[in-house]
Parts: sequence; C-alpha cells; structure tokens
Amino acid sequence: MNTLQIYNVDENVASNAWVDHERYLTLYQQSIDNPEAFWREQGKCINWIKPYTQIRDVDFNYDNLHIRWYYDGTLNACANCIDRHLPTRAHQTAIIWEGDNPSDEAYITYQVLYEKVCQFANALKKLGVKKSDVVTIYMPMIPEAAYAMLACARIGAIHSVVFGGFSSEALANRIDNGLSRVVITADESVRGGKRTPLKENVNTAAKLLKETTLDSVIVVKRTGGDIHWEEGRDYWYDDLVNNASLDCPCEEMDAEDPLFILYTSGSTGKPKGVLHTTGGYMVYASLTYRYVFDYHEGDIYWCTADVGWITGHSYVVFGPLANGATTLMFEGTPTYPDASRCWQIVDKYKVNIFYTAPTAIRALMRFGDEPVKKTSRQSLKLLGTVGEPINPNAWEWYYNIVGKQQCPIVDTWWQTETGGILLTPLPGATNLKPGSATLPFFGIEPALVDDKGSILQDTAEGNLVFLNSWPGQMRTVYQHHERFRNTYFSNFKNMFMTGDRARRDEDGYYWITGRVDDVINVSGHRLGTAEIESALVKHEIVAEAAVVGFPHDIKGQGIYAFVILVVGKEGSKALCEELKLMARQEIGPIAVPDIIQFTPGLPKTRSGKIMRRILRKVASGEFDDLGDISTLADPTIVESLTLNRVIK
Ligand code: WTA
Repeated sequence: MNTLQIYNVDENVASNAWVDHERYLTLYQQSIDNPEAFWREQGKCINWIKPYTQIRDVDFNYDNLHIRWYYDGTLNACANCIDRHLPTRAHQTAIIWEGDNPSDEAYITYQVLYEKVCQFANALKKLGVKKSDVVTIYMPMIPEAAYAMLACARIGAIHSVVFGGFSSEALANRIDNGLSRVVITADESVRGGKRTPLKENVNTAAKLLKETTLDSVIVVKRTGGDIHWEEGRDYWYDDLVNNASLDCPCEEMDAEDPLFILYTSGSTGKPKGVLHTTGGYMVYASLTYRYVFDYHEGDIYWCTADVGWITGHSYVVFGPLANGATTLMFEGTPTYPDASRCWQIVDKYKVNIFYTAPTAIRALMRFGDEPVKKTSRQSLKLLGTVGEPINPNAWEWYYNIVGKQQCPIVDTWWQTETGGILLTPLPGATNLKPGSATLPFFGIEPALVDDKGSILQDTAEGNLVFLNSWPGQMRTVYQHHERFRNTYFSNFKNMFMTGDRARRDEDGYYWITGRVDDVINVSGHRLGTAEIESALVKHEIVAEAAVVGFPHDIKGQGIYAFVILVVGKEGSKALCEELKLMARQEIGPIAVPDIIQFTPGLPKTRSGKIMRRILRKVASGEFDDLGDISTLADPTIVESLTLNRVIK
C-alpha cells in the first residue's frame, strides 16, 4: 500500500457525528482568533466550586514568564472525577482492572471508587498529610494506584508518581527532590509473571535519602511476598483504610494550586519535576479526552500506559474519569501469557477505544497476524498511538490487521510538559496519513522555527514550538523556576520550545522527525543520555562515557554507549555486564544499554565538546555521511570508532 495514501476516515467509518473537516477548520480558526471566548466556553467542561471569571494571564517572555488559567476559579480534581458522577452513574463501572494473570479482574463502580478514595484520603489525613504536601506513589498498575492519586487530589496533596520500573536510586532522587515524607507502594508488582520488589526498593531508597526522611510508608498487599518491615514507619494499606470514615469532604483548591509533579528526562542534569496545576490541567485533559477519542456514553476505553507516565495520568485516570467513562487498567504486558493478550482483553471487555504506543505495536507485529486474527475485536471503533513516531509499516498493520480497516487511528503528539494532546487527528474530521500526528487541536498554535528562531512558512522542517499557551501547559519545574525558563523559553523568544523537530507538508500536516537535544526515546520512554552516562561513570574503571540512540526495530531507539576506561584497563564481556547492571541500579531496566563499545577516545572539538552527531552516525552504521570532521581535536579517532563499531 502506498504509505502516502490519505485515509479518509469519513469514508471508512462514520464515527464522529459532531464534526467534519470543514467544521474543524472553522472551529479551529475561531479558537485561534478569539482564544478568550473559546476557552471561556470550554472551561465549563468541568465543575467549578467557584466559577472563574478570568480566563488566562500568560506571558511567554523570558523575563516576565508566567502562565495562569482560570485563576480566580476554585475546584477539586477528585470531585470532578468522582463526586459529580454519583447522581447519574454511581453503579456504572469506573475502572475495570485486568490483572497480570488473565483470571484476575475487578470492576470498580463510581460509588465504590468514591468510598475507596474517601477512605484513603482520610487515612492520609490521619498520617498528617496536608494540602500542598508531596506524596510519592510507587505502585504497580492496580486500582489502588488510581485511588492514591485521587485521594491526594481530594485533600489537596500533590502527588508525585514514580514509575514502578525505576530503581531505588531513581526513586530516592525523586523523593528527595519533592521533600516527600510519605510513600505509597505495594509489597511487590507482577508483570509478565515476574515480580519486582517495590517495598524492598522503597526500603533501600529510604537509606539513600539526603534531603528528607520518610515518616510513613503505606503498603498495599499485592503478592504477599516477604518484605522487611519497619515498625512505626510502615503501614498496611488495608489496616489504615478499612477503619477509615467513608466521608471526606473535598478541599477547595485554587485553579493554580498544584495537582501533581511528574519527573521527566531532559538533556542535562537530573530529571525535572514537571508541575501541573488543577484547573487548566483538568479542563485540558477532560476536553482532549472527549474529542480526540470521540468518547461516547457507555464506551469502554483502554489505554495501556502505566500511571508512572504522563499518559497514565491524563488518559488512564483524569481525562476518562472526568468524563464519567469506563477506563481499563491493565497490570500486565502485551505478550504475556502470549501475543494475543491485548486482543483477548479487547474481546473480554468489549473495548471500543484502544490507545497504545508504537513500540507495543511493533513488538506484537513480530508475532505475525495469527494471534490477532484469532480474536474478534468487533467492539473496536477507534485506535490511538502516542509516545514516538509510528513508522508507516506499523501503522498499516495496526490499521489493516488490528482495526480491520474499520477504525481510524489517532496518532497523538504531546509531552509530559504539555499535559495533554496537542497535535492529533480528530476521528471523522481529519484525513489520516500514516506516520503523521496531523494537525493541531483547538486553541493550539504550532510553528516551525529555524535555529535562530525565525518562523518558517509553508512546507518546512524546523524546531517545533508553540506560540501560545493552552490550559494544560506545565507551569514550572518544581522548585526550579529558572530551569523552566531556561529549558523552554530561552532559545526562542516568546515561544514554548518542545525539543522536537518536525516537518510540515503541503497539507499543513506535522511529521515529527526527532529530538533536537540529547533525549532519546526508548520504547516510548523518554531518557536523558546524560542520566545514563552518569550511571556508567560511577563504575570505578570508567573514565568517560557518551550515550546516543540508534534505530532499533522494536524499541524505536536503542541505547548505544561509548565508554573510555581508565588507563591500563581493558574492556571485556564481564565488564559490559557490570556496566549494564550500573544503569539498571541507578535508573532501571529501561536504561540498560543495548550496545557498549569500549574506545580509547571520543570525537571532541578543540574546546572539548563531544560531537554527538558523529557518535550517532557511528552507532547507526552510517559511515558515508559523517559530515565535517575537520574541527575535531583528533580526527583519527573517527576511524578507530567506525572500525570498532559493535553490531548486536
Ligand atoms: C515523543 C509522552 C512522535 C516526542 C506523551 C515528545 C512523539 C516526547 C509522539 C514526549 C507522536 C510523543 N509522534 N513523537 N505521536 N508522542 N512523542 O514526555 O519526542 O514521555 O517530545 O510524553 O515523545 O515524551 P513524554
């Protein structure tokens, strides 16, 4: 099939009755011409305690940077996800939980969700958690993870979810950064039949803390595995919650009060605590959920993301629940017990909307069509992807085999920083092109700029920026406002810089071409190469390390590490294993290098800057096109690097 063919979803599936392309264009133009009026109206998609009169107060200018939305309104995020639905849907399922083991399942109604969250919130209060305190959540994909997030929101505590695949070191850094004195965890997590000792990791993290000490660790019993217990600090979730009151009033929050922190990788230094606030985030997550996924009453919706990532925040928990939807939480992995698992789950619960990452699609494609075709998937109406560019091959397979050419695919581009989807097709209204995240959502003004910040017109390729704010935009880097200004607003004047490059085609469609910085995207997970490098150089015989991404069939990008050893030491297979373990311990399994090349030197300019462009070419085997190497301090190093390239 011609990959540039435009799929007119109107012809294939008439799914979205409210809008067609003309209508999208008109509404979009209105939203840009008069953002105040547009957002004044859309802000009503959630419930406010005190309605806002002010819409936005934004300045992207570096010196005066500030972003506020709906800032005289008050609300509670948890009330929007639960309480507001009780009169009409108390007995509707809010969360379907499918365990790692296919025989484990649970249905949680809005009424039960309300009770669980109130009890949890009261338990937190009893432990002394107050408005604005940071609570760390380090959990498997079990309903209690959602209860914990919502319970924090209910009492005005700021949650900081740390992905359960991160190591105790990574966890400790995040606890320290947020000065968080309470951690919610489970004894162990189970994925693909394998257990991970979450509580043990918390114990280790507690010993590594430099800035804070843990007052309380709340432990959900998931597996019943052995754990070390610290009396006076550790509490079983059941003991705390079972006796707690069912009644817990919602804290009235200002629109700009923080809702959560979520750490994400940047090009330098430690991960940044991206801060989202209550009003704008809830409006944006709720609105995009409804329109991008064409959500209709009664739809069963499944997003495979973990709550440890932004997708899990906006499109497993807050967006769907704010709309009164039924959201499916899956504890396991797409290939366990076998490669049919996702489609069996789709059939079992009659899932209508399915949202996943390209890496999962590529991993499943390897098993061929049979595991898909033996299921019905009749319920599916819409498919979505997020996290990385989807290669047209995988797109075709998703569209033809999984969706039986019946379901539009929404390729949604966004970031932890953006809070919700910014570039996306709207089902029924946007012609699809495989591999393109297509067009901006309402109210969103993308632009491409050259490296000097001049806006490029028409078809072009350049740095992807946004010229105007939207309610779901991050407000600051927690405790580091300078870092927020410098990372996103210093390179280009009066624009939000995404760190991505993109191309715009003759139809105005956006195609993401990669990152401009030293961030790599491994299986849809964002990692800073600097973080991996600092893990590797902790090994006593490593003098220096440089990490780059290289094209990887399944992961999108793999991790290629160039390592210089201290004088007199030699690389070996055993050392490779030790280094991989370092990365696993410092960050987690996702950060383990696929390839390690020992090298006597790195390509550096005379001023000592590593030319990563050359390392990327070497890692991907593109030796013909190394570009200008004349500015290198020692150009001969390039030959040594290419000769010794490691092929997996
Ligand atoms: C990449 C995930 C191409 C991009 C929601 C972005 C994408 C980074 C897409 C953010 C997409 C996300 N097409 N690339 N549809 N979606 N990305 O913060 O490089 O984990 O900057 O947020 O993922 O990753 P993050």
